[in-house]
Amino acid sequence: MSTQNLFRPFQLKTLKLRNRIVMAPMTRSFSPNGIPTEKVAAYYQKRAEGEVGLILSEGTVIDRPSSSNDANIPHFYGQQALAGWQRVIDQVHAAGGQMGPQIWHMGIMDNHPSGWVPPVPFEGPSGLNRPGFTNGSTMTQKDIDDTILAFGKAAADAQKAGFDCIELHGAHGYLIDQFFWEATNLRTDAYGGKTLAERTRFATDVIREVRKQVGEDFAVIIRLSQFKPAEYTHKLAKTPQEMAAWLEPLVDAGVDVLHCSQRRFWEPEFDGSDLNFAGWAKKLTGKTTITVGSVGLTGEFFGAFAGESSQPASLDELNRRMDRGDFDLVAVGRPILADPNWVTKIKTGRTSELKGFSKEAFAELILD
Ligand SMILES: Cc1cc2nc3c(=O)[nH]c(=O)nc-3n(C[C@H](O)[C@H](O)[C@H](O)COP(=O)(O)O)c2cc1C
Repeated sequence: MSTQNLFRPFQLKTLKLRNRIVMAPMTRSFSPNGIPTEKVAAYYQKRAEGEVGLILSEGTVIDRPSSSNDANIPHFYGQQALAGWQRVIDQVHAAGGQMGPQIWHMGIMDNHPSGWVPPVPFEGPSGLNRPGFTNGSTMTQKDIDDTILAFGKAAADAQKAGFDCIELHGAHGYLIDQFFWEATNLRTDAYGGKTLAERTRFATDVIREVRKQVGEDFAVIIRLSQFKPAEYTHKLAKTPQEMAAWLEPLVDAGVDVLHCSQRRFWEPEFDGSDLNFAGWAKKLTGKTTITVGSVGLTGEFFGAFAGESSQPASLDELNRRMDRGDFDLVAVGRPILADPNWVTKIKTGRTSELKGFSKEAFAELILD
C-alpha cells in the first residue's frame, strides 16, 4: 500500500509542514537542572535533518515550583533553559524542520526513584494522582490563577524564540488531565463538577490564556488521552456525545489541533465503528487531529518501559485510515527516538533498514 498520503504537505496557521509525520513528545531526562544541553539540540536537529514534518519536544515544564518530579527534565522558563531551547529551535530551523515545545505541568506525582523532590509539595486539583494515592496539595484559587499565567508565559516565550507551535500536555494523567478525571478532581468549585464538560474548566482557562498570549495565527495543539497510566482501559468519554461535550469547549477556547493519544492507533474508540480516537475527534469537531500509538511497531510504549522489544510493523492499516481521511497527522514516538532517519527510510521504501525498538534506546540520545 502506498504511503504517499503521509508525504503530502500540511498547512495550518504557522505550521507549514513538508509531510504528515510528527515526532511524538518523549521525555528523555537529559537536561541537568532543567537546562537542555548541546546534545539535546543535536538530537532534535538530527530528526529535522531526517525529514520529520513536525517535531514535538519532550514535555518541558512551566514556572511552578513543583511542576516537575525529575531534575533532568527540561524547564521552559529561566534564562539558561530558554537559551538552551533557543539553540534547539535555531538548529531545527537551519535543518529545514518545524517544532513546538510540549508545555507541561505534571501535577500530583509519585516521587522520582532518584530521590530528588521539588522544593514544595506537588500540586493538583485534589492532591490525588489516582484513586487512593495522595502526594501533595490541593490547589487554591491563587495556585490555579498563577498556573494558568505560567502556561501562558511559556507559550509566549515559545513564540518569541521562534517555535512554530506549542502543544499543551493535557494527557496521560498529568495536571490538566487530573482536572478532567473524576477520580482525581473532587473539587466543588468552578474547576470541579459531576460532568466531564464541567471539568474542562481548567483546560479552557489555560487555552484562553495561551491564545491571549500568542494571538490568533499561532498554532496551538492539545494532547489528550482517554487512558490513564493508572488505568489503561479508562475512558473519560464513554460515548461520542460525552466526547463531543469534552472536546467542544476546548475548541471554543481556541485550540487548533487535537492530538489524540492511544497506545495502539488501530483500536476503535466506541462500539459499532472502527474509528479511533483521532477519527472520532475529527468527526465530532471538524478540527485537525493527530493520531499516535504503535505506528510501525508491533508492541506498545508501556510495554517498552517494562522492557519488551518491538519489531517493525506494516503501515498498511495506518495508510488505510489516512486515505479515508480519519486524521490529518500521524505522530511516531519510539521509531524516531531510536532512528533519526526513520522518515526518510519510509519515504524511500528502505523498510529492510528499519530497526524496531528495544529498551537500550532509552539510555542515550541517539544521533545516527
Ligand atoms: C521514552 C518515552 C517518553 C515519553 N514521554 C512523553 C512526554 O513527555 N509527553 C507525552 O505526551 N508523551 C510521552 N510519551 C508517549 C509518546 O509521546 C507516544 O504517545 C507513545 O510512545 C506512543 O507512540 P509510539 O508507539 O510511536 O512510541 C513518551 C513515550 C516514550 C517511549
